[in-house]
Parts: sequence; structure tokens; C-alpha cells
Amino acid sequence: MNTVDQAIKLVKNWRRHKAVIHPRTVQFMYHWMRGTTTLPYPPLKLHLESTSVCNLRCPMCPQSLDAVKGDTGYIDMDLYRKIVDEASKFALEINLFFRGEPLLHRKLPELLRYGRSKGVRLHVNTNATILRESQARMLVEDGASKVTISFDGPDKAMYEIMRKGAKYEVTLQNVRQFLALVKEYRENGRPTPYTVMQVILPYDATQKGPNLPQHMRDLFADLPVDEWDPIWPHGWAGVMQENEVVEAQPYGENYHPCNWLWKSLAIYWDGRVASCCADFTADQLIGNLKTSSLMDVWNGPEMVKLRTLQVEGRYKEAPLCAGCDAVWQKDTPSWSLFDAIEKQIRPSSLPTGRLTSIAAPAAGEAHVSPHAAELGPQTVASIAAARNGFTGPISATGWKNGPAGMPSAN
Ligand SMILES: C[S@@+](CC[C@H](N)C(=O)[O-])C[C@H]1O[C@@H](n2cnc3c(N)ncnc32)[C@H](O)[C@@H]1O
Ligand code: SF4
Repeated sequence: MNTVDQAIKLVKNWRRHKAVIHPRTVQFMYHWMRGTTTLPYPPLKLHLESTSVCNLRCPMCPQSLDAVKGDTGYIDMDLYRKIVDEASKFALEINLFFRGEPLLHRKLPELLRYGRSKGVRLHVNTNATILRESQARMLVEDGASKVTISFDGPDKAMYEIMRKGAKYEVTLQNVRQFLALVKEYRENGRPTPYTVMQVILPYDATQKGPNLPQHMRDLFADLPVDEWDPIWPHGWAGVMQENEVVEAQPYGENYHPCNWLWKSLAIYWDGRVASCCADFTADQLIGNLKTSSLMDVWNGPEMVKLRTLQVEGRYKEAPLCAGCDAVWQKDTPSWSLFDAIEKQIRPSSLPTGRLTSIAAPAAGEAHVSPHAAELGPQTVASIAAARNGFTGPISATGWKNGPAGMPSAN
């Protein structure tokens, strides 16, 4: 999750992201680079968790640590309608997932139809393990605008390690069946979702980026995969950085605020709001949509203070951001280009780039945060927080000293 590369990819893969290629994208880039903390535009996109329940325990995902234990549920229609009614006025896309597997929500057809009736573009990301024919038809007919299939590993052996609990042949058959349906609909001139095949490949320090093996493409050669998206595992804000099964890509060398805080919000199944979709244990809550509006939360005190911490280089004071690789950019041509443009926009007093005063989290640091300890033995957020030098008490809202204890916004 290297955010500069991610921003460049967003522009390069314009078809996939056409919902976000919008004048507001330029506004977002400008204010992110400038370091504005109260934003004059609404969130561009949302992660809206249809359910936090998952049928797999993939070792590169915090779900494998039972991170959501005690916090499982399905969004109800009333809350969903309230959120979509507001979001449809400005969100360019809603990801109907965050934690969990969206196909497990038995009302997914209703969620899709309601969103579509409000003119919202809906993106479903699925492990495809239960994507049988009726589900495939539902995704196509009920209006998913984009479907991303997570089909990891170059072969059966690797797939079944990466997708613990899944069977390679079953998923392959499901995906082929789904794509065959998309093909049939397209041949009949009917609307279909944009299809993305996301493949997580083992990190390889000798390569510049992940290389998709040709035999994986060949598996779907006759079928409509609109885009292949090979990626290396990221560390989920530090939580999975040093897990023992799947090596995450390392932190980069250049500090920069993470773009998620400038473009999106992540919402749990029960209306609580997270600052970003890496927060599997709700350690950095910023509001609740049962009692507030999206816009109140977007520029509310917690979110503004979080942006402020990152802009001022004080990311370690926020429990989740403290371990996140999204604030550490690698030396790449994308970074150099971005850095050159940013110098024209950003006040020189704000820290960014290769700095001596700020360091990436050191390997092997681990403490347990009280909040995660309360959640049980699977202390995901704690590992993230801890790895990063965050050891203070966390209040009921998940904040170190409560929002009031944080520095004031500009
Ligand atoms: C948390 S999952 C939820 C949706 C669904 N259960 C799935 O697996 O597609 C969302 C996305 O995160 C991806 N993911 C999980 N762990 C990852 C990691 N360590 N690095 C990069 N992507 C990861 C999954 O492959 C999936 O595309
Ligand atoms: S990556 Fe998706 S399928 Fe795998 S454990 Fe995480 S949420 Fe579940």
C-alpha cells in the first residue's frame, strides 16, 4: 500500500477507476500534497462493510488473527439506506467490503439494488469461494459496477496456503463460471461489471514489482478479465508486517502523509467509522453514522487531528498510523515525479521525504495496547500500535488520550 504508487496507478488504470477520475480527484491531489487538514470537498469513496464475517483465514490478512472476534455482524437495511442516501450525493464509488467476505451477506442483492437505484457505483471484492451460479448472476444483474476477484498464488499449492480454507479447483471453477456469464451478457449487449483479477504474489526483493506468471493469464485466456492486478502483500498498518507465513513488502525510505485520509472513509457493519480500511480492530474510531452524518465525521475533530498528526510528521502519536507502510514511500520514479510536483505546492515547513527526524518502525518492537488486550488474545491493533512506539492508554473511542488530548488542527 505505497500511496504514491497507488495514486499513480489510479490514474494509469483509468478504466478501473473511472468513477474517481473526476475534477474532485485533482482537488484531492492538491490538498493532499499541500497538507490541508480541513477539506473543502467530501470523501471520494467509501469502504462500507456489508459484513465482518469471513469464511477464510488467509495468512496475510488480519482476519487470520481473528482480529474481528466479538465484532461480527451484517449491516442492516435501515442503516445502509441512511448511509447510501447521504453518500449518493457525493461518493464516486462505494466499496461494499472492508473486513469479511461480502458474498456472505444474504441481502447483498438488496444492497446492490438499492445502491444502484440511488445512482451509486458499487464495487464488490470477493474471495469467490462461494461464487456459485446464482451469486454470479446476482452480481451481474443486481448492479455491481466492478467485481474484483482475489485469486492469489501462482499455483494450487501456493493458492491453498494463501487462501487458507479454500479449495483451488472450486474457486477456479467459480471464477470461470462468473466470467463466462459476463462474456455471455456482453455478447448480448447487456451491462456487466468491470472485472479485475487481483493476485497477491510472494514478495521478491530482487524484482522491481510483482510479475504475473503467464500460466495464470492462460487460465482465463478466453474470458473477459478487464484488468489483472498483481500485487505484493502489504503489512496492514504493521499488523501483518512480520507475520510468519507471508512476507510483506518492507517500508520505504521517504515519509509522506497517507492519501487515504484525504480521499475516503471506512465504515463498519454497525455504523462506526474508521479513518481507514486497515483498522480491523477499530482502534482508531472517528465517529458513528447512527448519530452523525458522513460530512460531520469527514471534517470532524478526530479526522482533522489525524491529518494534522501526519502532516506534522507525528504519525507515531496515532495508534494505527504508527505502524503503517502507507506513510513510507519507496524510491521509485513515481516518488521522484510526485516529490518534484509537490515541492511546488507544499509549504516548506511541513516535513516530507527522506528525513533524519522521523524513522520508520523498527523491526521486532511489540507491546500490547490495552484496547486490543480487551478484545482478547488476538491483539492485532496492539501489535500495530506497538511496533510503532505507541504505548499510551486508549480511551473508549479508541484514541490514545481521547481526541481532546491530541494536538489542535490548523
Ligand atoms: C480484506 S479483503 C475483503 C474482501 C474479500 N474477503 C476478499 O478476500 O477479496 C479485501 C482485499 O484485501 C486483500 N488483501 C488481504 N491481505 C492483503 C495483504 N496483506 N496485502 C494486500 N492485499 C491484501 C484481499 O486480497 C482482498 O482483495
Ligand atoms: S483476505 Fe478476504 S477472504 Fe481472506 S481472510 Fe481476509 S477477508 Fe477473508
